[in-house]
Amino acid sequence: MKKSSIHSVVYQIWPRSFNDSNDDGIGDIQGIIQKLDYLKYLGIDQIWLSPVFVSPNKDYGYDIQDYYNIQPEFGSLEDMDILISESKKRDIKIIMDLVANHTSDQHPWFQEALKDKNSKYRDFYFFREGKNNQEPNNWISLFGGSAWTKVKNEDNMYYLSLFTPQQTDLNWDNPEVRSEIEKILRFWLERGISGFRMDVINIISKKEGLPDKNPHKKGYQFADDYIVSREKSHEYIQEMYDNVLKDYPGLFIGEGLLISPEQARRYCGSNSKELDLMFHFDTMLIGCGPLGKYDFRKLYRWSIKEFKEIYFKWQLASINHDFYLGNFLSNHDNGRAVSRFGNDKAFHNVSAKALLSLIFMSRGTPFIYQGEEIGMTNIKLDVEDWKDFEAINDYEVLQTMMHLPKGIAKRVIQKMTRDQARTPMQWSDSDYGGFSNVKPWMIVNPNYSYINVSHQQVDNNSILNFTKLCIELYKKDPCFAFGQIEPLYLEHKQLLAFRRFNESTEYVVYINMSNKYIHFKLNNEYINKELVLSNYSNPLLIEKMIMRPYETIVIKVK
Ligand code: GLC
Ligand code: CA
Repeated sequence: MKKSSIHSVVYQIWPRSFNDSNDDGIGDIQGIIQKLDYLKYLGIDQIWLSPVFVSPNKDYGYDIQDYYNIQPEFGSLEDMDILISESKKRDIKIIMDLVANHTSDQHPWFQEALKDKNSKYRDFYFFREGKNNQEPNNWISLFGGSAWTKVKNEDNMYYLSLFTPQQTDLNWDNPEVRSEIEKILRFWLERGISGFRMDVINIISKKEGLPDKNPHKKGYQFADDYIVSREKSHEYIQEMYDNVLKDYPGLFIGEGLLISPEQARRYCGSNSKELDLMFHFDTMLIGCGPLGKYDFRKLYRWSIKEFKEIYFKWQLASINHDFYLGNFLSNHDNGRAVSRFGNDKAFHNVSAKALLSLIFMSRGTPFIYQGEEIGMTNIKLDVEDWKDFEAINDYEVLQTMMHLPKGIAKRVIQKMTRDQARTPMQWSDSDYGGFSNVKPWMIVNPNYSYINVSHQQVDNNSILNFTKLCIELYKKDPCFAFGQIEPLYLEHKQLLAFRRFNESTEYVVYINMSNKYIHFKLNNEYINKELVLSNYSNPLLIEKMIMRPYETIVIKVK
């Protein structure tokens, strides 16, 4: 087990919106280099860099055209080398994003496959003939609509693309595909990066024959167990481990679409010869209907009780099934944590802190997403401001296939669009939030005038300074990464509380997840112990505890 990598703090950068160094309105690698001292000051250990490879940007880098070169708007290979060496000087590791379930349709492999039906690259992808004038099967794209796209200039021929039509699924059953992926991994690991986050790695294997899912049902169907965590996906990841991963000490983290704890154990349990950590998305899907994030039938209502159930299910499973989780509450695919799970108005400061403390006090590796350390919030974007294919496409799908009135469709998208997470980083109160000197590629949240890094750096009570404290606390004691966890007050409707402990240390964590005052009885033993974290001034430890809205305390018991 890679103890030191697991016990570390990861900061996710979505480069396009992080920092623009050359005034073209787009974040870039030199921009990241300029902020390395800031990341060092924050105390992070590793950067997870969302894709920086050459890409036509249909899915902002998650559609890769050339795995061996850097997207020109982000810089060059030389810039990447500088980023690696400058990070190393500061003892910060770089994790890149391996997007290998699919390539861009502009990738030379796919272009060759289109040009020549007899090319070996044809079998790098899934080309299939249509059936009865329809797509080869009824699978739905994860971004809405059919998962198949018609090939131009060929009769009745389609290719599989589970995300945008320009993200063409690779055929991992082809050994040559797998060895190409290994080459890419080795290329970057040898260049000095320390690990990979692996994009939708648990859907790389598709059911043999690509049969219809629920053939008797009308409409496109989510392929579910025909794509998720199939036996072969484990086989292929094991092969990757044997041939490449086992030789490198860094972190390999899997994005686990709809995984179960049993699956997580196989992907990253301590005896697994696959990956080191997994992300699960159950918390992100809270309040969504069974069809996922744009299934609005539950009106995105959720309860603290459900939140606690998901939280403890996974935390306890990580012990019982002997694996570690990547703990996060936001990323580039989800709205801002404080807007979704906290309260970004009256309780912005305290609720952002409460959520951060949850991430850092959990068992596993904490991941924070750019801007989370200052409590960046969601923004209501107009249709013209949407940049993300998923938002734009699902807006159509909701209207045409789900027959939703335009106004409601718009509200559903506004609530859930990934664009919320992609507004530029708010560095200061100068124009465009200090992200750029020119109008950025995407709207800046106007609250940059008061939510920004430079204000928070000089404010002792800021979310930023609280994040620093959380990071210090987490790093100081391995009990947080590796220790046991025991839920407390499970029945309490607002209080999320637990004990963290190992042979030598013990902490109790109390988080009021609500905007109300709450009451509970504090164990007498804890009253005179050391308070190591709190998000209000002067919390009183008394037997008849009262906690203020979103109040959080962490007590060191021993
Ligand atoms: C992952 C990424 C997401 C991307 C998708 C397809 O879920 O996090 O941003 O759109 O995979 O690559
Ligand atoms: Ca730039």
